Amino acid sequence: MNVMQDMTAAVSLGDKGLTLPLADGREAYFNYYWLRDNCPSSFNTETRERTFDIFHLETAPRAASARVEDGALVIDWAGEDHVTRMPLSTLAQYTDGRPRHDPADLPRVAWYSDHFADVPRFSQPELVKDPALCAKWIEALLVEGLAIVTDMPDSNEALTETANLLGTVRPTFFGDFFDVKTYINPTNSAYTAAALELHTDTPAEEHAPGVQFLHCRRNSVEGGGSLYADGVAVANDFRARDPEGFKLLSTVSIPFYCEHDTYDVRSRQTVIELDAHGEVSGLTISQHMADIFDLPQDVLDDYYPAFCRFGKMLQEDRYVMKFMMKAGECLVFDNHRIVHGRAAYTASSGERYLRGTYVDRGEMRSRYRALVSEGRFKA
Ligand SMILES: [Fe+2]
Repeated sequence: MNVMQDMTAAVSLGDKGLTLPLADGREAYFNYYWLRDNCPSSFNTETRERTFDIFHLETAPRAASARVEDGALVIDWAGEDHVTRMPLSTLAQYTDGRPRHDPADLPRVAWYSDHFADVPRFSQPELVKDPALCAKWIEALLVEGLAIVTDMPDSNEALTETANLLGTVRPTFFGDFFDVKTYINPTNSAYTAAALELHTDTPAEEHAPGVQFLHCRRNSVEGGGSLYADGVAVANDFRARDPEGFKLLSTVSIPFYCEHDTYDVRSRQTVIELDAHGEVSGLTISQHMADIFDLPQDVLDDYYPAFCRFGKMLQEDRYVMKFMMKAGECLVFDNHRIVHGRAAYTASSGERYLRGTYVDRGEMRSRYRALVSEGRFKA
């Protein structure tokens, strides 16, 4: 008996799928629909899209025969003039029903109030020129949630150019951009000289924007220091210190709102956001945009104290990084993870002007994967 006959005998056909040995000796089962739908011929390598439409099969796919040949599973399909050759290396990635490896799914590293000197910094003109540096920048945003872009040109275009390195600009109900300075008739607390408590932006949107850019164009006022804290650091410590409170804040959603003459934006969010691994991935919190809590009053007996315990913890000195933004710097941070605020300033004491915009988290992850990984179709 030669080797090929040996391998042929090793593939066993069932009613709904087949079982075969993989290169590492493991036996693995694969469903026929899955094998037929994902035949390499189902994908157009130019458009990189699936061109096969399984809905057009008249009968359930079933192997007439199958064998392992030259490191690939070869299937002759019953009732169809079609042969599938699927590499064992491809099959090995799908044996356990685990999600496909995602290079952008990086473990987060929490940071504390003493982090300012270590905040990753990237020069804007260098980022524009160097895709590898761009990948390092995005990696810092995925892992730490915050980075500073330096040497920003003093123009509106520079902010767009920088945002476009991560993805397309994500408009909000403020438009494509927002300008943070003092207004005579403010529609938002940010547009006054008052202190601004630690918050995430636009929580009232169903999907609040993911990455925030704050480009400091002028800052010569007295006061107005920037405050930033890592929501992951605080929520992870809260989980250890106050498990019951953590459970409430990560499972019970509360209402947020943003209302004025022409808009009435509403959403419900949990204050603590968990990812698919059950790890803390972010926060949604904003005292100035929290709506009147409409939970049953007896639930509030537990929820409110937990909410306040967490809110006080967020302001503890160990978490809040304080610094003065300088003209020419752009803070870039995960709006679902990093809370930001500012100390009050004297409006008449000088000029303070920040211009901001957003890009979604998914766009940033997409850009990162495209920069660092091969994908399924790259040669
Ligand atoms: Fe804000």
